[in-house]
Amino acid sequence: MIIGVPRERKILENRVALTPNGAKTLVQSGHRVLIETQAGAGSHFPDSDYAACGCEIIHSLAEVWGQANLIVKVKEPHTEEFKYFRKDLAIFDYLHLASMPEIAFKLRDSGMSSIAYELIRDEKGSLPLLEPMSEIAGKLSVLNGAYFLLTQNGGRGVLLGRAAGLSPARVTVIGAGVAGKAAVETALGLGASVCVLDVNEAKLKALSASFDDYVDVKLSTPMAIQQELPNTDLLVAAVLVPGAAAPRILTREMIRTMKPASVFVDISIDQGGCAETIRATDLQNPTYIEEGVIHYGVCNMPSQTARTSTLALTKVTLPYILEIANSGVDHVIRSNSIVRAAVNTHQGQLTCKAVAESIGAEYTEL
Ligand SMILES: NC(=O)c1ccc[n+]([C@@H]2O[C@H](COP(=O)([O-])OP(=O)(O)OC[C@H]3O[C@@H](n4cnc5c(N)ncnc54)[C@H](O)[C@@H]3O)[C@@H](O)[C@H]2O)c1
Repeated sequence: MIIGVPRERKILENRVALTPNGAKTLVQSGHRVLIETQAGAGSHFPDSDYAACGCEIIHSLAEVWGQANLIVKVKEPHTEEFKYFRKDLAIFDYLHLASMPEIAFKLRDSGMSSIAYELIRDEKGSLPLLEPMSEIAGKLSVLNGAYFLLTQNGGRGVLLGRAAGLSPARVTVIGAGVAGKAAVETALGLGASVCVLDVNEAKLKALSASFDDYVDVKLSTPMAIQQELPNTDLLVAAVLVPGAAAPRILTREMIRTMKPASVFVDISIDQGGCAETIRATDLQNPTYIEEGVIHYGVCNMPSQTARTSTLALTKVTLPYILEIANSGVDHVIRSNSIVRAAVNTHQGQLTCKAVAESIGAEYTEL
């Protein structure tokens, strides 16, 4: 198979879909790997590393898309790439189509097969291709939040950790999953006082136990959120209903009760965000103020630690890329139910129910 790896086009997206070592595994299995020049530069993998692993360095985006049978990327296709969509091509990457109907319809109408990293769900029910990025984004949410709480960045001028006998800042995390847990770990590590809310009681119990009860846990209800927000310095949202648009659990009125110049980081922005006041931003201009609160809505947070993220991503995606390359897209979709469940579009149909419902389009079962 010919596997194409384009350079990412999203603003300040520095990850790349394959490390040189990952690409080498594919080359050694008899596949051709086309790397667009400079695709790995942002993660400090120069073209020469890929060439040494047997990859072909390609100087035009059109050629990468035009020659490949399978495109592997990090983020959703960029507008510049829409014109290369075609029927006999497959793409495997983070798609998050519930929040991007335009891309969903373009992929569907092209007849392409698109398979979403974030919907690969293993036998244990976890999302192994999303987890490493969620863990990294969770940790970064608190580091970014702490940065925007600084006085010179427009924040309240509050230190997250305890100092000089004063009470520590309060961090509220909504969502006790992978990203939420990583946010809690980082916030506790910095010495903050932490509260976590989730609708899943079992997850809250497990999370509380894993931090020796150093964290307050609450069942997430509108009332519990309302009680927590006026005392919160940094709010982190990390909720997920796989495939679907993020549930809108934070109203404008709730955000209005937060302290002036406090910070809200919505990690779930890649699924559309969970607050009435949130909108997508980018790493160049990551924040804006709404209701006096600094809002942060970056959809590619892990790009800030591009090398770590690229290494972590290739580790989990490579077995799937290898299987697709070895067996062919159609065969894997037929024979592997885990991959089949992650197919968003195939032969002109939208084949993910949660995505179809979120964007009000017709769903066709694969
Ligand atoms: N912005 C970024 O750069 C970035 C990077 C990685 C992941 N993400 C996103 O972060 C989000 C969280 O991912 P994750 O891997 O931690 O998911 P997860 O499935 O591990 O955890 C999600 C949690 O949300 C909880 N939840 C669902 N509905 C809820 C509700 N109404 N109220 C309260 N809690 C609710 C679930 O019970 C679960 O515990 C996803 O949208 C993911 O795509 C964003």
